Amino acid sequence: MFRVGVIGTGVVGSAVALLLRQKGYEFTGVCSKTGVSAARLAASLGCKFYSDPADVLVDARIVFLTVPDREIDQLAHRLADSEYVNNEHVFFHMSGALPAEVLHPLKEKGSAIGSMHPLQSFASIEKAVENLPNSFFAVQGDAAAAEIAFALAETLSGKPFMLKSEDKALYHLGACIASNYLVALIHFAVGIYRQIGLTEMQATEALMPLIRGTLANIELLGPAKALTGPVARGDINTIEKHLGAIGNLASGQADLYKYLGCYTTQVAVEKGSIDNSIAEKLLCIFREEVNQDVRQ
Ligand SMILES: NC(=O)c1ccc[n+]([C@@H]2O[C@H](COP(=O)([O-])OP(=O)(O)OC[C@H]3O[C@@H](n4cnc5c(N)ncnc54)[C@H](OP(=O)(O)O)[C@@H]3O)[C@@H](O)[C@H]2O)c1
Repeated sequence: MFRVGVIGTGVVGSAVALLLRQKGYEFTGVCSKTGVSAARLAASLGCKFYSDPADVLVDARIVFLTVPDREIDQLAHRLADSEYVNNEHVFFHMSGALPAEVLHPLKEKGSAIGSMHPLQSFASIEKAVENLPNSFFAVQGDAAAAEIAFALAETLSGKPFMLKSEDKALYHLGACIASNYLVALIHFAVGIYRQIGLTEMQATEALMPLIRGTLANIELLGPAKALTGPVARGDINTIEKHLGAIGNLASGQADLYKYLGCYTTQVAVEKGSIDNSIAEKLLCIFREEVNQDVRQ
């Protein structure tokens, strides 16, 4: 089994290391910016911690660069300038947005480079240790690095798949919509409930069973078939009631409701629960209202 080093011992770097250690991987050294998280992880892994990232390369063959995305390029250059990089090294970053090629200075020194992005959202090391298994991993990079990434992901009980470099931006966009925009949408709904007197906690608590039920339906049926509600039913009277209440929302929020109404109408057509004539009526209502707002 290859010896492993980690540069960047935050949420993802720490969780990946702890899980691989449980599976028998040997860790030779770790490093972080301030040294605090690296010292903590080194104690758990039983390895050294360093203040200079280049020192991690001395004994490790696989090296994870699990630093914030904005730091990866600079770190790759810094490591490539050190005397320790060789053609035995395999470097990985775990960014969803950046291609493996951001590590090109290390490739120029003969190392293999790759990216392996866990399609998951991690709020803490504990949650990451819990949620990494069963996550999908988007793998991209050299053939040699990709082969090792597949083996690592499978060791983590993950589900690896290959991604083309040119598809990374779209891949990450999809992940942001599914995770970050979902959070923003729920924030939007909670804000509306706060206007009818609920606290943030009460509103979140009240909406959670609905959100969980919806997610379960999506998992079972796929997104289009999981669509319920007034747009899916073509219930124009209810939409008009919403639009009557929309004056209580800030104008950007009202526009968001209407744009999403247009998108949801297309989903309802795909589901087959409304025909094209109802869809046209709904789109007219949503678009006309958007236009009126823009004119104001
Ligand atoms: N969090 C997620 O949900 C998630 C999901 C998928 C992929 N990712 C990817 O995973 C990677 C790491 O993200 P994260 O959430 O784990 O970040 P994080 O919790 O903020 O941890 C970043 C780590 O990098 C260290 N660091 C920062 N600059 C450094 C430098 N110049 N040299 C050495 N160490 C440095 C920090 O040191 P200190 O501890 O000393 O501050 C910290 O240990 C990113 O590429 C991110 O896109 C994250």
